[in-house]
Amino acid sequence: MDSIEIIGGERLDGEVIISGAKNAALPIMAAALLARGVTVLHRIPRLRDIHTMLRIFNHLGVRGEFIDEDTLEIDATTISACSAPYDLVRKMRASVLVLGPLLSRMGKVRVSIPGGCVIGPRPIDLHLKGLQGLSARVDIEHGYVNATGSPLVGGEIYLGGRYGSSVGATINLILASATARGTTTIIGAACEPEVVDLSEFLNRMGAKVTGMGSPRITVEGVDELYPVEYTIIPDRIEAGTYMLAGALTGGLITLRGARPDHLDSLVEVLRDVGINISREGELIMVQAVGDLQPVDIATLPYPGFPTDLQAQMMALLSTIPGISVIIEKVYPERFMHVPELNRLGARISLEGAAALIRGGHRLSGAPVMASDLRASAALILAGLVADGKTTVRRVYHLDRGYERMVEKLTALGAKIKRVEED
Ligand code: EPZ
Repeated sequence: MDSIEIIGGERLDGEVIISGAKNAALPIMAAALLARGVTVLHRIPRLRDIHTMLRIFNHLGVRGEFIDEDTLEIDATTISACSAPYDLVRKMRASVLVLGPLLSRMGKVRVSIPGGCVIGPRPIDLHLKGLQGLSARVDIEHGYVNATGSPLVGGEIYLGGRYGSSVGATINLILASATARGTTTIIGAACEPEVVDLSEFLNRMGAKVTGMGSPRITVEGVDELYPVEYTIIPDRIEAGTYMLAGALTGGLITLRGARPDHLDSLVEVLRDVGINISREGELIMVQAVGDLQPVDIATLPYPGFPTDLQAQMMALLSTIPGISVIIEKVYPERFMHVPELNRLGARISLEGAAALIRGGHRLSGAPVMASDLRASAALILAGLVADGKTTVRRVYHLDRGYERMVEKLTALGAKIKRVEED
């Protein structure tokens, strides 16, 4: 199992190019199942999760392959199976995004229920509620969701959940309703840019989705969708992670290819902290100068501060003198990185879904264990400023969501390398 070694203390400087968004690429790949023919997707990041989705496609009898560095071709002319087995779903929860398109195209679908997750309970009740709202019959049996329904019929569906809107459930419902009979109205829809990107892709295919980016989305069912060529949005979480790397280490980092309008909440918080952020066209410049201030934040659905940047933000706040508070409102148990950051010398205590960060204590390198994708990134960020050597183990999590992170950080001046371990 590989690990990553970092020697802390280097100032990062230079330009980093932001890759395509994993969390837009996965639903858009699932949407390609709705079109008979060959879909071409550009700016697809080479990540483990994308390959897991391709393995599901393989199981479905759908050809999907990279035809150049970041272009994926998906041929869904025919689909020979309509199930996603446990062995694949347990590797990636986003596998459940094939529920909507397979049900709509094949009239039936069987998908394993995803199991436990280190970031806390992640039920799929809202996904199922959405499908039932389209008159599908949904049963749970032997760890699988079996859904049938043909034709699906549009309806008005409230999708708000206990922790706010659900990105995945909104996406599944849009996917299932694109070719349903009549009109579907989703109330309490997720507003994330990835939902907007999926909707725009579907509209390019011939769908009629309006209201995306707002909590009320309307989908007017059409008879058929057609294969198209599309370029997905840049990854706002990857961009945010490099902005935080710049803020932590000093120096001047320039992001190329990110969408500043997707990063408003982070920019606002970083400015409160005292970081200089400027924009020039598609470039975002980040520089930490002078004293930084502690802040109190809560993670929230978009356009609030993203839960997927909570761990990385905590790494930054650990280095800022004073007391900061982070309240995790999307996944109240997503704090597995806290004891590991504390191993590096941070002083963070937890009270329910709130983390109290007593910042400004010197971080010192140590071996630490990554528990999930964003926790891995947070530990690497902390390692960049810790004294001496930090070794981040179980780094395979990182390969799920950060394209060439070691290479990108090295190009910015970090002392970081991947080490193969038994
Ligand atoms: C997406 O997960 C992302 N994954 C996650 O990114 C991200 O953390 C999350 O949205 C929140 O922004 C992908 O896009 C592939 P949700 P998703 O449904 O769609 C509860 C990463 O690191 N809920 O918006 O699964 C749920 O438990 C990953 O890249 C229900 O109660 O998240 C959570 O508290 C991790 N019932 C809240 O809603 C449901 O049926 C939001 O979850 C569904 C969700």
